[in-house]
Amino acid sequence: MKEKIIAAYEELADSYDALIEHKPHNAYYDRPNTLKLIGDANGKNILDAACGPGKYAEILLKQGATVTGFDNSPRMVELAKTRNKNDGEFFVHDLSAPLEMLKNESFDTVVCALAMHYLEDWNTSMQEFCRVLKPKGTLVISVEHPFFEYLYFKSKKYFEVEAVKATWGGFGKRIKMHSYRRPLIECIKPITNNGFYIDKLIEPKPVPEFEKYDQRHYKELNTFPAFMHIRGIKK
Ligand SMILES: C[S@@+](CC[C@H](N)C(=O)[O-])C[C@H]1O[C@@H](n2cnc3c(N)ncnc32)[C@H](O)[C@@H]1O
Repeated sequence: MKEKIIAAYEELADSYDALIEHKPHNAYYDRPNTLKLIGDANGKNILDAACGPGKYAEILLKQGATVTGFDNSPRMVELAKTRNKNDGEFFVHDLSAPLEMLKNESFDTVVCALAMHYLEDWNTSMQEFCRVLKPKGTLVISVEHPFFEYLYFKSKKYFEVEAVKATWGGFGKRIKMHSYRRPLIECIKPITNNGFYIDKLIEPKPVPEFEKYDQRHYKELNTFPAFMHIRGIKK
């Protein structure tokens, strides 16, 4: 499963990078809501987990943050380095593995946008996010909304964590993408069981620019959420 996900992202990395600026679900739905939860990044030390082509890093660096990012797609990491020139630090690493290269209590914020649904078990990452965060540090994640996925994948087993696959056509070529859908409680429990309390949960609405690029999804997302954003604070 992991190999298939890496292979899919290796294949779409370049088009993802080229489209990330204005791809409506990223630019006008995920990012504005995730960035709102991160708040003022100036002077903060931020870990961008599953950084993709480094678009979040670019924004946060411009705001005056120090950014470390990792991803398990080598091409994504290359693109993140290129996008951010010599700013920030980026390396290849698996989100489900311990972050042994990162020191305890060294980050103010960990952001993990649109990637946790590639992991079956969230416990190790949550424990590691908690370990590398300073006391009262902030974790911000965005994931596919559990109710959206339940309907989209026509699941009959709400309470289970299930391996699912979808065909993506929005990046120029058709790509089979594997992930795990999970119930709401399996998005909450790994966070609250591993050293965080949740201080904000957002069921986002797209920002108005979205409509210019994709009217159909703009309408849909104003009636039913596709993503969910959670902010945890280290206890
Ligand atoms: C939808 S993209 C999001 C990228 C970036 N966070 C953003 O929002 O622009 C998902 C990213 O997660 C990465 N990813 C998937 N599974 C991963 C894993 N097990 N470890 C690290 N990165 C992973 C993919 O390579 C891809 O870059």
